[in-house]
Amino acid sequence: MSDSPEEMVVIAIDGPAGSGKSTVAKLLAERVELPYLDTGAMYRAVTFASIAAGIDPDDADEVTAAAINMDLRMDVDGTVVVNGVDATTQIRGPEVTRAVSSVASHPKVRKELVSRQREWARRNGGGVLEGRDIGTVVFPNATLVIYLTASPEVRAARRAGEVADLDYDTIAAVIARRDALDQNRQADPLKRADGATEIDTTYLTIDEVIDVLVHQLDRALSDSE
Ligand code: DC
Repeated sequence: MSDSPEEMVVIAIDGPAGSGKSTVAKLLAERVELPYLDTGAMYRAVTFASIAAGIDPDDADEVTAAAINMDLRMDVDGTVVVNGVDATTQIRGPEVTRAVSSVASHPKVRKELVSRQREWARRNGGGVLEGRDIGTVVFPNATLVIYLTASPEVRAARRAGEVADLDYDTIAAVIARRDALDQNRQADPLKRADGATEIDTTYLTIDEVIDVLVHQLDRALSDSE
């Protein structure tokens, strides 16, 4: 299929961990009444499926097979069911978080998930997708392509507020490691897409970010008329 979403509204939101992507993407989707897709949860689901099957996350062929065969259900309330098992909590746990960068580095795993993401948007007639490669690979011609950033300190503090059992220094180190892996991998590394609007959320509230995005979307839609 074409990745040119001319007939549908697609909003692509990329950025590093803790940049505010998930919160912003979810609220924006509600506000503009579009469905929302957390593509990071899909990489986490493949990681969960691989671990459950005893597959080494570094084994590209085995992990690719697990991705292709994965039965994945993602509900609007955030429930994630992988091969019939409710994995909502475990996909956010330390075991999956440690292994997900490796899983996401395999090009054939990415190809499978990118194809599922495009299919999801086509089926829904558009949507808000957040991840690392949405504006660069999945939907480079999206109606709106956004790159969110924030200072490393603020990103770590935000994650520390969400996770009860890890201290700030541990979280800062985990985020720094994942940033490096996401930005330096060969296949579709995290980077700002050409033409993306970059928003630094360090000193902005969520509402302020949403207002900027709604304004940008209105402009993009009126420019395309
Ligand atoms: O957004 P997150 O932390 O749940 O993402 C989990 C991992 O998946 C992250 O380390 C990078 C990877 N990822 C990716 O490579 N491409 C995406 N579109 C989304 C996530």
